Amino acid sequence: MPSLRCIDCHSEFPSATRIYTCTNCAGLLDVVYELDEFRGERMMSIWDWRRASPKAADQSGVWRFRELLPDAEESEIITLIEGNTQLWDAPRSAEYGGLERLTFKHLGMNPTGSFKDLGMTTGITQAKRLGATSVACASTGNTSASMAAYAARAGMKSFVFIPAGQIALGKLSQALDYGAQVLQIDGDFDDAMRLVREIANETPIYLLNSVNPFRLEGQKTIAFELLQQRGWQVPDRIVVPGGNLGNSSAIAKGLHELRERGVIETLPKLTIIQAEGANPLYRLWQRAKQTSEARFEALPHAFTLATAIKIGNPVSWPKAMRGLRWANGEVEHVNEQEIADAKAIIGRDGIGCEPASAVTLAGIKKLVAAGTIQPGEDVVAILTGHVLKDPDYTVNYHRGTLHYTDKSGQHIALQSHYANAFTQVPAERSAILNALAG
Ligand code: F0G
Repeated sequence: MPSLRCIDCHSEFPSATRIYTCTNCAGLLDVVYELDEFRGERMMSIWDWRRASPKAADQSGVWRFRELLPDAEESEIITLIEGNTQLWDAPRSAEYGGLERLTFKHLGMNPTGSFKDLGMTTGITQAKRLGATSVACASTGNTSASMAAYAARAGMKSFVFIPAGQIALGKLSQALDYGAQVLQIDGDFDDAMRLVREIANETPIYLLNSVNPFRLEGQKTIAFELLQQRGWQVPDRIVVPGGNLGNSSAIAKGLHELRERGVIETLPKLTIIQAEGANPLYRLWQRAKQTSEARFEALPHAFTLATAIKIGNPVSWPKAMRGLRWANGEVEHVNEQEIADAKAIIGRDGIGCEPASAVTLAGIKKLVAAGTIQPGEDVVAILTGHVLKDPDYTVNYHRGTLHYTDKSGQHIALQSHYANAFTQVPAERSAILNALAG
C-alpha cells in the first residue's frame, strides 16, 4: 500500500488521507511505495508486454505503469487513454541548438493537448476514491483544460481559477467546452493559486493543482514512457520547461524510482529552463551555487509572453531542488526573443509547440554556446503543450507584431527572425500566379 510522506519532516500518512501538505510542518508530500519484489527485468518485461494489450488500463501511457502508482481498481480509473506520445527526431532544431541530434517528446499530443493529462488521470481517480464530487485548480490554462475534461468524464463539477486576460484562448475555450465553471480572477496566477488553496482547505472541493502529490504520480510516468520507448536506454540529458515546477519534480521522482528498482543505473542530467521574467528557480539555483544558505524568494510580478509559465511563486520548488540534486541538474533562463525564435524553429521541424515548450530549445542553444551541453550529447527535450493552444502568439510572430510592455513601461517589439509572413492576393488567377512566381 502506498502512503504519503513529508519531504521535510518525513511524517507519514495513509494515502487515503485528504491532505495536500504535511499537517505537522506544512512541507510537500510524496506518494511513497514499499520497495517490494517488483523491480529490474521483471518490471520492464511486464510493462513492455502491456503495450500490446487491448485493455484501457494497459493502453494508457500512465496506468500501464500501475505498480508504481497509487492504488486504484481498474473500474475506478478515469482515463482518456493519455500518454503514448511519440519521440521525434528534430534535425533543424538540433542544428539551431548546436547539437548533432535532438529528440523531442511531445506531450502536447495528449488528449487535451498538454502533459497535464498524465497527472489529471491519477488526480481525478484519487478524487473519486476519496468520494469528492467537485474539484478545483488555479491555472495558467492547461491544468484547467485538462481538469475540466477529466472531471466531465468522472461526472464531477469543476471550478477553475484563472488570471483574468492572461491565459491563451485555446485553453480557455477548452475549459468552457468541457463544462467547468470558470472564475476569472483579477490578479495573477500566484494570487489564484493562493486563493484556491485557501478555499480547498475550507470546503469539500478537492484541489487538483500539482501541490497534490497524486497529480505528480501520473506525471512521473513521462520518465517511464520515455525510457521504455528508448528500450530503457538512458539519454545524457532531459530538458524541461519550469513554471510551477511540478513537472520537473515529477520526472525526477520517476527517474529516481527507476534507479531504486534497478531499471537504470544512472540518471540523465535534468535541465530546467525558465523564462527570464519568471525565473525564481534560476535565481535560487545561482545563489545555491554560492552558498548552502540560499533561500527561496518569490518573484512578485512574474512576466513572460509564454503565459503557461508566468509564475513567480512556484509551489513545488523544494521538490525541484531535490530533483536537481538527484539528477546532477542545471537551471537556465531565456529571454522573450530567444523563446519566440526557438518556437518558430520547432515549427519548421514540422512539430510545433506552444511558447512555454520552446524554452527548451532556447535553453539548449544557450547552454551549448556556454559549453555546459556538449554538441554530441544525447538530449531529449520535453515539449509540454500543443501548437494550437496559443495561435495568437504564433500569428503575431509570423506577422511581425509580437510585442510586450516591460516593467518600466517601455514598449518592446520582438524581431521575427524566422517569420513566415502571409501574402494578400486579389482573387484573380494572374495575381496568384505572380505571387507564386515571386
Ligand atoms: N509548459 C506548459 C505548456 C504548461 O502549461 C506549464 C504549466 C509548464 C510548461 C510548466 O510546468 O508548472 O509543472 O513547471 N502550466 C500550469 C497550468 C501552471 O496551470 O496549466 P510546471
